[in-house]
Amino acid sequence: MTAGIFLNGEWLAPEAAHVSVMDRGFLFGDGVYEVIPVYSRRPFRLEQHLSRLQHSLDGIQLTNPYCLDQWIGFVTQLACEAEWEDQSIYIQVTRGPMAVRNHAFPQQVTPTAVILAEAMQTPPQSQREQGIAAVSAADIRWLRCDLKTTSLLANCLLRQMAVAAGCVETVLFRDGFLTEGSASSIFAVKDGVLLAPIKNHLMLPGITYDVVLELAAQHGLAHEVRDITEAETRGADELWMCSSTKEVLPIVTLDGRVVGTRVGVGGTPGPLFAQMYAWYQEFKSTVMRAPA
Ligand code: PDD
Repeated sequence: MTAGIFLNGEWLAPEAAHVSVMDRGFLFGDGVYEVIPVYSRRPFRLEQHLSRLQHSLDGIQLTNPYCLDQWIGFVTQLACEAEWEDQSIYIQVTRGPMAVRNHAFPQQVTPTAVILAEAMQTPPQSQREQGIAAVSAADIRWLRCDLKTTSLLANCLLRQMAVAAGCVETVLFRDGFLTEGSASSIFAVKDGVLLAPIKNHLMLPGITYDVVLELAAQHGLAHEVRDITEAETRGADELWMCSSTKEVLPIVTLDGRVVGTRVGVGGTPGPLFAQMYAWYQEFKSTVMRAPA
């Protein structure tokens, strides 16, 4: 059975799910979103995603149209009824339609809430085994990158730089420090220590980022959460990108230069990546594929 698309409390066939062109999400990118991976029909870290959704809504001063239990119910229903076992569930809440185009919020706000599922598309095995190429760019986004807003034009332009260069991701630097990727969190490894940028207003508090740090702590991998300079990033032994849809991937070249100086093996995924990837898959399988 296919649940269809959730639109403001109704489950509709995709061709019947319509939103007004006066919706502020369409005209201003005035909305927030979440992407939740679902494995074996079990949403991964659902409460953390919904808590970040609340953080984003608070950040744009938009009242959450549903309570936590309602969201859990909607997402769980979709995860059970969509056609795929492994899915990527997309949630979007915008400030809804306005009568006349005006930057200021309407007096009467009726948010538009959408939930839909797509087949989960994990990266090809070749990307995990051989690693991916990345470019770098100045982080040209605003100063509230902790909010997962639908105003993603800067992220799209930055990601397109990678695509134009035949690469997968764009690594962002602001004022000489690593922030994140155009649609991912970035980690560096130096001398056996995993380095993670500090979660602040300059980066999205990634759910996968948290999982990676938890796994590092659990397995005794030395890690530091601190500012990481551009020079440290470029001189790292390993670079990783991670997100809900890409899981964890090794970056093996940055701006055409090989990451790491391991003798004879520069340009290939590093040993700590292999270790983290195995921990991540093990964690997924125990948590998500345990008997119901
Ligand atoms: N993006 N940083 C940015 C800018 C992102 O867009 C994402 C994910 C992440 C990783 O966050 P998480 O681990 O919670 O997925 C970091 C999603 C997948 C997207 O926009 O489609």
